Amino acid sequence: MGVLTRFSTNIYAIGTFAAIAGIMFGFDIGSNSGVIGTEQYQEYFHRPDPLLQGGINGALSAGCFVGALIAGYFADRFSRKFTLIGASSLFIVGSVFQAASNGVPLLCVGRVLNGLSVGVTSMVVPLYQSEVAPQEIRGRIVAVQQWAITWGIMVSFWIQYGAQFAKNTAAFRIPWAIQAVPALVLTCGMWIFPHSPRWLADKGRIEEATKVLADIHGNGDPNHPRVQREVEEIMAAIHFDREIASHRYTDLFKPGMAYRVSLGVCLQIWQQLTGMNIIMFYVVFLFQQAGIGDSQEARLVSSGVSYVINVVMTVPAILWVDKWGRRPTLIFGALFMSIFLWTVGGVLSTGNWSIGADGKWGVKLTSKSQADGVVACIYLFVASFATTWGPLGWIYPAEIYPLRVRAMAVSLSTASNWLFNWVLNFVVPLLMERIRYGLYLLFAAFNLLMAIHVFIAYPETKGFTLEEIDIVFQHNPRKKIPREVMDKWIEDRGIQRENSHADNFSENKTEVTRHEEA
Ligand code: BGC
Repeated sequence: MGVLTRFSTNIYAIGTFAAIAGIMFGFDIGSNSGVIGTEQYQEYFHRPDPLLQGGINGALSAGCFVGALIAGYFADRFSRKFTLIGASSLFIVGSVFQAASNGVPLLCVGRVLNGLSVGVTSMVVPLYQSEVAPQEIRGRIVAVQQWAITWGIMVSFWIQYGAQFAKNTAAFRIPWAIQAVPALVLTCGMWIFPHSPRWLADKGRIEEATKVLADIHGNGDPNHPRVQREVEEIMAAIHFDREIASHRYTDLFKPGMAYRVSLGVCLQIWQQLTGMNIIMFYVVFLFQQAGIGDSQEARLVSSGVSYVINVVMTVPAILWVDKWGRRPTLIFGALFMSIFLWTVGGVLSTGNWSIGADGKWGVKLTSKSQADGVVACIYLFVASFATTWGPLGWIYPAEIYPLRVRAMAVSLSTASNWLFNWVLNFVVPLLMERIRYGLYLLFAAFNLLMAIHVFIAYPETKGFTLEEIDIVFQHNPRKKIPREVMDKWIEDRGIQRENSHADNFSENKTEVTRHEEA
């Protein structure tokens, strides 16, 4: 194998390269917050009133919502890989429109295009990653996308921070133009990477699918036992699926599948209701309202720190999410976030609230240690999200559906994420004024509810191949699947195997070692 082939068939290289789209996602999340406050932006766009500014902001998430909804069709019809390439080229066009905009209309067109693109990529990347990755490191590979998102948010924040010192329109044109860089890299580079083997198999291109699996998991050897086992399992699943359904949207709502779809959709909605985006979008306002920091400059720096924590604390998830398992990570993550938000709300409730000269509510905390406590809890909250719900919001929905509906179902769950992202964009500033510290208590309660929901309804999916996930849903979500049940499932599908699946979950470590040897 040449160096390039070795690179383009290395699972970490494939996963990381596709994850570049996460940087675009992060740029999108952070692309406006640092710009709209600058005098340069305000003057050039004739001081948009709150409604217009809301429209400019919302153009992006509205685009994301639509993009995520239509992505399933493109990913099934034209492949995960080409859909990703198409969406990244769209992002380049959108960024050029934004950077060159001569007024609000062009700016909005640019933002809608970027939104469409990110909607598509945020759905296709986890799908593609989970379909190329071996089950033992699937969580880790998808978590890399989340890591890229956090990098995108952080870098865009600091670029905007630096660019604000430019005296002219460069203050916003530079950050918007730089967005195109990762999209350009992805558009040009993605060609050398393989198609998803599962998509190829589904299209009847079995030889190509085998070759991809051999290159990625078997050192180029199609007869490698692991490759043969995977091909067999994928084919068995495809035949089995074909007998019961076709690729139709109505399949999503059939008994059995509707439940799984609801889990994916709820998980993505819950991910937004953790309250993480209160911090990502409005942490500067939060610090301002809580009277933290002596100047806007100091508050900006404290806000910047939360973006850095977000990046750093995603690393433990990349390293260990496949060891921890999905359920404990989600449950403990939600409980920790809940505790930190109760504390923030509780401390803020004890301060003296009054309306300031700017007509907005603000609080005077009684001591410096209270202010420090609020900042510490915010940082701890961000750290908890980063290691748990951040990555799992994308990992879990990408792994719970059978191939025939996977793209459509992931599309739907991703669209729900963007819908709630859009809603929060609007309501958080409103709630900050209306219910003030109650905002944190409300989201603390959501976190508690999601921990309970996960405990009751979400089965563990770590260590199973995407084909084996079916059996997980025929079982009590809170119990381990007995070996006999698993063996019967394998037998029913006529899969010949020396090592039964039970090895994969009861002795996960052995399986990882085996994979690394391979
Ligand atoms: C969420 C975004 C959030 C980001 C923060 C993503 O997983 O979907 O809404 O802003 O994480 O890191």
